[in-house]
Amino acid sequence: MTVKVTVTGAAGQIGYALLFRIASGQLLGADTPVSLSLLEITPALKAAEGTAMELDDCAFPLLQGIEITDDPNVAFDGANVALLVGARPRTAGMERGDLLSANGGIFGPQGKAINDHAADDIRVLVVGNPANTNALIARSHAPDVPADRFTAMTRLDHNRALSQLAAKLQVPVTEIKKLTIWGNHSPTMYPDLYHAEVGGKIAAEQVDGEWLRDTFIPTVAKRGAAIIEARGASSAASAANAAIDHVHTWVNGTAPGDWTSAAIVSDGSYGVPEGLISSFPVTAANGQWEIVQGLAIDPFSRERIDLSVRELLDERDAVQALGLI
Ligand code: NAD
Ligand code: LMR
Repeated sequence: MTVKVTVTGAAGQIGYALLFRIASGQLLGADTPVSLSLLEITPALKAAEGTAMELDDCAFPLLQGIEITDDPNVAFDGANVALLVGARPRTAGMERGDLLSANGGIFGPQGKAINDHAADDIRVLVVGNPANTNALIARSHAPDVPADRFTAMTRLDHNRALSQLAAKLQVPVTEIKKLTIWGNHSPTMYPDLYHAEVGGKIAAEQVDGEWLRDTFIPTVAKRGAAIIEARGASSAASAANAAIDHVHTWVNGTAPGDWTSAAIVSDGSYGVPEGLISSFPVTAANGQWEIVQGLAIDPFSRERIDLSVRELLDERDAVQALGLI
């Protein structure tokens, strides 16, 4: 059966890095035909058409069709997977409330369109920032869709942490298991090495505490800003890669003995208030995420997790006050 994948912000830089990989089978596998729905704002439709022409020119065997629209009701009609990439970036002089309002104006209607038109098995990944809170807004406009279908992306942070740790310990990334990003996709996120294992031993015990605190955590947490500073634009190919990883894992499952990180709706685990969309250690099986249970949280980690969760609560309160959820 052909899977309909809707990508919002399709003419943007992440969209450009994402669409060809979806069409080539890297999102869902080499046996799954896909059709693409490209949602853009009206002025960017022409650019989306250009990207669609290039997709055609690749003659991807799995690609069954491409639709381009500025209407969320059309874009999400029958969608099985929705990658919500398009968002309103913060511009100079913009207050936080303005940013949240602008994004509420995008993610509210998109959530409603998903609610009204998507397929029963819809799975949603929000990439557009502020990703966790945008996912919360979309979810609150989709009361008929099970809450666990709304997720936000912290897989890029997870991959960044894997890469930094692998470089420090001079091991392949494949040797690292059970790494976790907790909290918000923002500089308050907490990359946790106290449960991560390298060669079967706890990672935090293989690095010195000062490096962990003063180099590793800030490098991972501020990597997005460092990329913007270096490239003059935010991460695109690595963000698209992480979106592919997130959905691929969601659909195909995690490897035995390992877990990954995803921002999913909290069930109250680890003291994260129920309903917040926060990053956790998660496994996936049969198309469903599950939070890894029973991890002992040391005081240092507790403080870091609480800080990021506090920020999520503040964002939730702000969008609530603005009537966006
Ligand atoms: P971009 O500006 O290149 O592209 C965004 C696109 O979204 C534009 O083409 C714009 O026309 C479109 N758009 C805006 N409003 C829309 C709407 N209502 N419906 C459909 N499309 C709409 O930006 P980008 O580099 O592709 O980044 C997209 C988002 O992803 C940004 O918010 C960025 O901060 C975020 N991001 C998140 C992560 C993460 O790890 N979660 C990583 C990198 C970037
Ligand atoms: C990233 O982590 O690369 C992005 O979220 C940064 C940004 O602000 O777009």
